[in-house]
Amino acid sequence: MNILFMGPPGAGKGTQAEYIVNEFHIPHISTGDAFRAAMSQGTPMGVEAKGYVDKGLLVPDEITNGIVRERLAQPDCNAGFLLDGFPRTLQQAESLDGMMTELEKKIDVVFNLVVDRSLLLARLTGRRICKSCGATYHVMFNPPQHEGVCDKCSGELYQRSDDTEEKVGTRLDEYSSKTAPLLDYYRNKGVLKEVNGEQDIQLVTAEISSILRGLG
Ligand code: AP5
Ligand code: ZN
Repeated sequence: MNILFMGPPGAGKGTQAEYIVNEFHIPHISTGDAFRAAMSQGTPMGVEAKGYVDKGLLVPDEITNGIVRERLAQPDCNAGFLLDGFPRTLQQAESLDGMMTELEKKIDVVFNLVVDRSLLLARLTGRRICKSCGATYHVMFNPPQHEGVCDKCSGELYQRSDDTEEKVGTRLDEYSSKTAPLLDYYRNKGVLKEVNGEQDIQLVTAEISSILRGLG
């Protein structure tokens, strides 16, 4: 199954991806994670991406498309994949269509996690992530058992540098102007599924999982 996760920053894409890739045994490909890894390693691409990510702006399409193209060609994507946070512009969606044709694959389903803008700021400013295993928590909505410590691996939790109020505002504006129009692109292809992302985390997972089992 080849799956896309869409939705505004903080809608729960990363949180849900963690459960869904475990259940369906497919790789999780997050362009945001790829940029953060390159930034922390200080690669030339990471240095370039940092100028955009740190401001809450989208990284240029050529850089982003290149990362995804390379990743989707890996053999572990042959049995399916979950793309999280890509595409985010019409140009990226068209480029993904080209990659699918070249690889003789297709996107089976696109999930849009629907969450009202008023909830997103609280979700993002309260988010904490494990330095060691990447698990995501929230100080109020999904707290770890011990403050600042990951339940799964005892790793230290940190806050992303773009989760400040000012940068979240820019990220939400980028989403509204460049990414939200893409929903119609997938709606017109008949592959878009809207899921209420304001429900409890487990209920959202159950809904996505049930749709996927119905398709498989
Ligand atoms: P990226 O890392 O993709 O960030 P994003 O899209 O802004 O999404 P987030 O990771 O912030 O949110 P999420 O939906 O995954 O929410 P989460 O599950 O963590 O991108 C970062 C940057 O990289 C971009 O700004 C851009 O610069 C660049 N980039 C990436 N992809 C790009 C592309 N294709 N093109 C160009 N540039 C690109 O949940 C959020 C919080 O809410 C957590 O604390 C969680 O515990 C909590 N939560 C989740 N679900 C629930 C629930 N149901 N109820 C209560 N709380 C919940
Ligand atoms: Zn951890």
